[in-house]
Amino acid sequence: MTSEYRSKKGRIFSGVQPTGNLHLGNYLGAIRNWVRLQEDYQCLYCVVDLHAITVFQNPGELLQNTREVTASLIAAGVDPENSVLFNQSQVAAHAELAWVFCCISRLGWLNRMTQFKEKAGKNRENASVGLYAYPNLMAADILVYKATHVPVGEDQKQHLELTRDIAQKFNSDYGTDFFPLTEPLIYGGATRVMSLRDGTRKMSKSEPSDASRINMIDDADLIAKKIRKAKTDPLPLPDTVDGLKDRPEADNLITIFASLADLSREDTCARFGGQPFSAFKADLVDLAVDRLTPIADEMRRLLADPGTIDKVLKDGAEKARALSAPILNDVYDIVGLLRS
Ligand code: AMP
Ligand code: TRP
Repeated sequence: MTSEYRSKKGRIFSGVQPTGNLHLGNYLGAIRNWVRLQEDYQCLYCVVDLHAITVFQNPGELLQNTREVTASLIAAGVDPENSVLFNQSQVAAHAELAWVFCCISRLGWLNRMTQFKEKAGKNRENASVGLYAYPNLMAADILVYKATHVPVGEDQKQHLELTRDIAQKFNSDYGTDFFPLTEPLIYGGATRVMSLRDGTRKMSKSEPSDASRINMIDDADLIAKKIRKAKTDPLPLPDTVDGLKDRPEADNLITIFASLADLSREDTCARFGGQPFSAFKADLVDLAVDRLTPIADEMRRLLADPGTIDKVLKDGAEKARALSAPILNDVYDIVGLLRS
């Protein structure tokens, strides 16, 4: 890579699954930080299609979702000229290193992963082996580039701790300091955006009710409708953050407002304290429409030309292969795998 990359502070890797539209939680918890980090770090951003198939995906929908997620990342400000933007399956080194990590990682570690427990539900015996081994592939995504920092939402913290455990065990088993201990970057005030229908549940692509989330592709009318219908409680808004205790829906809406406006939660409470939800929601609609609809418009424009999106991913994959190949080679050497 060029000297411009070497002058940056470190290397960032992050990923998002192409399992549906991106929503406000993805945006505020992760993507917005990805965009801002591009200035200071060499960034690799990956649409993790191999992670998506740990749960069955309709092939046509998977293709379409891969393009849509790529378009929303670009529309949100990920710059494919400055960052490496690609989809995971085009860079075989991820899956190859994941196998090595399947041999490093321990059953006991994976058994503790809460995301597996949530996704597998009661019928654990029927979950795919891929869903269980998912965190090993995630560790490979990151470490195949020796990434130093990983910006994600709160829900990925445990997977990043596992990534460090894998790096540490690899280093100690083979008597090396080859892999860095990656630092999570979880910040920005809205690291866990909750459902609009239930303030105790995470906003998620997999939630059946579309009214529970604001999708990045939603138009102004739909955003307004969802915010107006968002669950609240009967009290006026509190004027301090302490007053949000035990009021999960108020807490979530205040957090969303603060984050979209780049304000603190304290200042947001001070501004709306004593007001009814109806007045606050009207301001939240204006703010959300103002911040999100330009991204949706740009996304629609990009999606009209899928060839260009595919080209971005192809070029990104080429750069990613060039960065990962020497690292994977070194791993094979360290492990003692003969390369002739
Ligand atoms: P996923 O859609 O699960 O691939 O997540 C992509 C990124 O968005 C990850 O960094 C997640 O931690 C983040 N994320 C997903 N849902 C939320 C949420 N409700 N609040 C904050 N961050 C989230
Ligand atoms: N597991 C992450 C999620 O569901 C997506 C992901 C895959 C990821 N590989 C990654 C995130 C590597 C950060 C780094 O959100």
